[in-house]
Amino acid sequence: MTSANTASTSTSPRSFPAGFTWGTATAAHQVEGNNWNNDWWEWEHRVGTRVKEPSGDTCDHYNLYPQDIAMLAKLGFDNYRFSVEWSRIEPEDGEFSQAEINHYRKVLEACHEHNITPVVTLHHFTTPRWVAARGGWVNDSTADLFARFSEKVAKSLGDGVGKWCTINEPNMVSTIGYLLGEFPPGTKSREARAKANEVFCQAHIKARDAVKSVSSAPLGITLAMQEYTINVDDESHRKAAEGKRDMAWDGLEDCFLEVAKGDDYFGVQTYTRERFNQDGRIQPDADMRTTIMGYEFRPQALEACIRRAWEKTGHVPIIVTENGIATSDDAERIEYVHGALEGVLNCIQDGIDIRGYTYWSLMDNFEWMYGYGPTFGIVAVDWKTQVRTPRPSASWLGRIARGNALLPRNA
Ligand code: BGC
Repeated sequence: MTSANTASTSTSPRSFPAGFTWGTATAAHQVEGNNWNNDWWEWEHRVGTRVKEPSGDTCDHYNLYPQDIAMLAKLGFDNYRFSVEWSRIEPEDGEFSQAEINHYRKVLEACHEHNITPVVTLHHFTTPRWVAARGGWVNDSTADLFARFSEKVAKSLGDGVGKWCTINEPNMVSTIGYLLGEFPPGTKSREARAKANEVFCQAHIKARDAVKSVSSAPLGITLAMQEYTINVDDESHRKAAEGKRDMAWDGLEDCFLEVAKGDDYFGVQTYTRERFNQDGRIQPDADMRTTIMGYEFRPQALEACIRRAWEKTGHVPIIVTENGIATSDDAERIEYVHGALEGVLNCIQDGIDIRGYTYWSLMDNFEWMYGYGPTFGIVAVDWKTQVRTPRPSASWLGRIARGNALLPRNA
């Protein structure tokens, strides 16, 4: 906790509780550049996938992290969520790179120099090529390999880490990668998705035990969650629609919410809502406001997801580890975050233990299949010069962070 959120002790309804943390997030593959030794790089270059373009240098954050961390601190944030790249630290089975560990140590030092708490994610979508070649997340032994890697990181860097996140959105890797075939490894099978969920849960449990054996920093897992609502023309279809929704929950969330019960916090990550009718998911209506991702503009989704996570985990403290919008209109970004934070305040008023909010993302970056099209950043990046330009939303959210209280959209 830093001065950014100890300042406010006000009881105004717009204030967040003392100790509430404010951060922004990135992920190694999306910002570092040239992470060629993982399954995503291979996928970006494979003929026939729907990936728009390769990640390349992306934000060159691998080199520019000192200025990026200084920038986020200056904006007013008190923590930075980023991931360490497994394929850099362990480029081949059991071969750990001291040079890459030293690199991440310097990243942690840069955070501390600026009073920023590092929130370190151990797996954010990318898997080393050598692990993928052995069957990746449908091979039980991947859970042990991930635990070994996690223990190595915790032993080498743990004293500098503020919070751990074992796995970012395992449900997206299992669903998009193993059921829909749009992320690596491009598998399309219900059984494979179920197996990947199982291996990810094991990986979380084993990594948690390994990290906890050497580090006392709080640890959790994050999940991609959407608000789910029922949308039927005819009430007699409601039950069927609820059945479809429950099936989606079953494959996407339930096992992870269960496994999170022993954690220090649970990371909610929400961008939008999904509506269900008797046939399953339905697309946003033509007259609905949507984002660059094609998602319904739905800031209220965060509140619904926090409430669901709180109930289903049996009241594990919540951190919003990602929330944000891809838009070319920064005023719309402010409108979105403002709406989302109102939802957070509603939950807090109802007694839900929410400990922080993290905007995705610090800066525009490589948005997986969609390449450089979607602009999620509160900071714009010039892809030719690597010059960073904070948008008005960056200073607006930074001021909220400093004051630990919600500001009007036009403040
Ligand atoms: C992921 C990020 C991604 C963001 C926006 C989350 O699912 O963790 O890597 O960029 O959503 O789509």
